[in-house]
Formats: sequence, structure tokens, C-alpha cells
Amino acid sequence: MQQSFDLFFVSSNYHKYQEAKKILQSFGIVLGFFKYDLEEIQSSSLKEIALKKAVQAFQKCKKPIMIEDDGLFIDSLFGFPGPYSSYVFKTIGNEGILRLLKLNRKAKFVSIISFCDEKNHKSFEAKIDGHISKTENGKGWGYDPIFIPKNMKKTFAELNNKNELSHRYKALKKFSNWYLHKMKSDDQ
Ligand code: IMP
Repeated sequence: MQQSFDLFFVSSNYHKYQEAKKILQSFGIVLGFFKYDLEEIQSSSLKEIALKKAVQAFQKCKKPIMIEDDGLFIDSLFGFPGPYSSYVFKTIGNEGILRLLKLNRKAKFVSIISFCDEKNHKSFEAKIDGHISKTENGKGWGYDPIFIPKNMKKTFAELNNKNELSHRYKALKKFSNWYLHKMKSDDQ
């Protein structure tokens, strides 16, 4: 039997989709996966990148979609890698980031969720403050082994409740509030 989805997560990153799917499930929203490597414009604004990606994703998928754009912003590096997080992860990786940092290790993760269908185009932003660990700890994807959320001692990779506090969780919670309200008013 074919499963019916409320909307599709367009991305080439299956880890992000798996987290988003679990989180949205807790709000009663069923998320499908549309694997596609979206073109990313060069911009210092995550929001601008996300909006362009969402339009592209909707044109490709032709169903209600969401995309996500994230960045890891490190204080002592003036916000680097920020919008270049994906490229920096693929090039210098966690080891390279650890080598760049000295005393001030403060950082934040930012997530932008962009939704697009025939009528709506909306973005939802959230962040989580924290710091960069001194070594890689735990077996997570991306920057998970080096990011420790504020007031915690463990990295995202070591925590078993990442999906209840992450930047992604917070942005998806904002999205869900809007989306469920929209569904209700569309029904009336
Ligand atoms: P983009 O949004 O696909 O451009 O991803 C930005 C970069 O941040 C990617 O290299 C991801 O691996 C990384 N990233 C985004 N969210 C997370 C997360 O929750 N944990 C670990 N790394 C992340």
C-alpha cells in the first residue's frame, strides 16, 4: 500500500530528513523524502539561500515541500563557517575546525526551514547556542561530534535527546504551529 505524505523534504542529506521526519511525526505531520541535490546560491544570508532553494525544490517536486538550510556560526571566527558550513565540512571537516580554535569556543547552530506550495512561501528560523568541544566525541553526522549545546556536557552526537532541543527541532516546531493552523483554516 502506498503511504500518503503531507509534504516532502527535498534534500540530498538523508540524516537531516530522518531527524525532521521524527520531529514532525511528534506533531502529527507525515514527511516524505524527495532526494535531490539542490543548487545553492553564494550568499552570506542563510534566509536568501533557503528561499531560492525552496522555489527550486517546489518546481522540481510539484508537491508541497520543505527544505532546510543550516549553518554553524563560531564566535571567535566571526561567524565562520556560517553559510559555508557544508563546504567547510567537506574540506577541512571537524578536525580542521578544532585546529582553528583556541580559548573562546562559543558557537551556535542556525536552522532555516522553508515551506513552499502553490499558495504559500514561508520561512522559519531558530538557533541553539553552545560551544565547540576540544576533541571529537561520539559518532554523529556532520558537526554533531564537536557541538555541545549550552548547559550540557555532551556533544549532539553523544546526547540521546538531540531531536528534542536542536536548532532543527525549534525551527520545525515553529513551522508545525503555522502549518497545523493553516490546515485548520483551509478546512473551513
Ligand atoms: P546545508 O544546510 O546542507 O548547507 O548544511 C550545512 C552544514 O551543516 C552541513 O555540512 C551539515 O553537515 C551541517 N549540519 C547541519 N545541521 C547539522 C546538525 O544538526 N548536526 C551536524 N551537522 C549539521
